[in-house]
Amino acid sequence: MRTQVGIVGCGPAGLFLAHLLHRAGIESVILESRSRADVEGTIRAGVLEHWVVELMHQMGLGERMKREGHFHTGITLQWNRQRLHLDMEELTNGKKVTVYAQHEVLKDLIAARLADGGEILFSVSGTAIRDVDTDRPFITFRRGAEGAEERLDCDYVIGADGFHGPGRQAIPASQRTEYQKIYPFGWLGILARAPLSWHELIYANQGEGFALLSTRSPEIQRMYIQCDPKDDIANWSDRRIWDQLHARLATEDGWQLQEGEIFQKGIIPLRSFVCEPMQYGRLFLAGDAAHIVPPTGAKGLNLAVADVLVLSRALEEKYRRNSSEKLERYSATVLRRIWKGERFSWYMTTMLHRNEGETPFEQRIHLADLDFVRTSRAAATALAENYVGLPFDE
Ligand code: PHB
Repeated sequence: MRTQVGIVGCGPAGLFLAHLLHRAGIESVILESRSRADVEGTIRAGVLEHWVVELMHQMGLGERMKREGHFHTGITLQWNRQRLHLDMEELTNGKKVTVYAQHEVLKDLIAARLADGGEILFSVSGTAIRDVDTDRPFITFRRGAEGAEERLDCDYVIGADGFHGPGRQAIPASQRTEYQKIYPFGWLGILARAPLSWHELIYANQGEGFALLSTRSPEIQRMYIQCDPKDDIANWSDRRIWDQLHARLATEDGWQLQEGEIFQKGIIPLRSFVCEPMQYGRLFLAGDAAHIVPPTGAKGLNLAVADVLVLSRALEEKYRRNSSEKLERYSATVLRRIWKGERFSWYMTTMLHRNEGETPFEQRIHLADLDFVRTSRAAATALAENYVGLPFDE
C-alpha cells in the first residue's frame, strides 16, 4: 500500500489531521491498534476550546455537537464552602465553554472520514515505524492479530498513537529529552444517571481535596474526586463516593447534589509529560504521543488538535509550494503552545488538589492563588484565557 501521509493512531490528533489533510487534497491512511468500538467507547475529558468548536463547524463536523453539546458561559471554582463563578464569556470577549465528550467527537470524525472514502484500518497489530531518517519511510503492520505482514509506504509518518504507542520510540533515545512529573494523587471518575445539579462545571478543593462536577446530558452526569492513584476501585462503594462528593461540594446555602445510579467508575493516575523534539527525519509526533497533561484543565484533546492544525498547514505548504520551512519548525512552534498548556494544567492541578506531601506553607499558597482569582480581574482573565484556549503563535 502507498499513501502520502501514514498516520499511526485514530484518536483526536490522527483523525483531525486526516480531515485537515483531506481538505487540502492530501491523502492519508490511519492505522489503529484498537477496534472501532474501543476507540468510540473510551471515556476521556469533555471540554473543547472555543477555536476547536469553530474548527469543527468549518469542517462541517459540528452538527451533533451543536444539538447535544453543553454551552456554558463559564466555570465555578469552590473552596471553603464558597463558590466563585468565573464568567469566561465576559472575560474573553464572548468565548464559551463547550462540554462535549471526547468519544462523541471521535464518533463524529470517524463516521465523516469513512463517508468521505477515507481509509482507517482498525485492530491492526505489530505496527512498526521504519526508515524515517531516509526519504522512503514506511510502516509495517498486520490486520487483526493473525494477518500477514503488510507495508504502508508513505512520504511522512505521523505518530499520533498516544503515550504507549511506538511513535515516540521511533525517535532514537539519544535524540530526545523527556520531561515528566507524576502527581501523588489520581482521579476517581464516575458516570451516574442523575439530574443536573448545577448549570456549569464546578472545580472544588474542599475537605479531603479535589472534586469536579461535570455533565454528559440532562440525564447523565460525570463527576470526579481526587484519590490515591494506587487505590483499588473495589474500595470505593457507591455510598463512599457520594459521601465524598457531598463533602467536597457542600456550600453554606443548602445547595443539594443530586444522586443517582453509578453505572461506570474507574481510577486514573495524573501525570505531566513532554518529549522534545517532536520530530525526527520524516516522523512527526502529535498529541499524547509527545505530551500528557493532568485532566484538571481539560487540555489533552485541545493540545492534540492544535498540534495537527499546525502540522497540516506545514504539510500543505510542502506539497503545494515545496517549502519545508514550516515542517522544519513544527516541533518548536507547537512546543510553545504545549508548554503553556502544561503550565496551566499543572497550575490548576496543584491549586485544586490537597497534597499531603506539600508543606502547610505550600498549601496556604494554593488558597491564596484561588483568592487572587476571586479578587483580581487580571488573574481571573488569565485563567479564563487559558481555559477557553490561548491564541495561536505560529
Ligand atoms: C469531563 O467532563 O470529563 C471533564 C471536564 C473538565 C475537566 C476534565 C474532565 O477538566
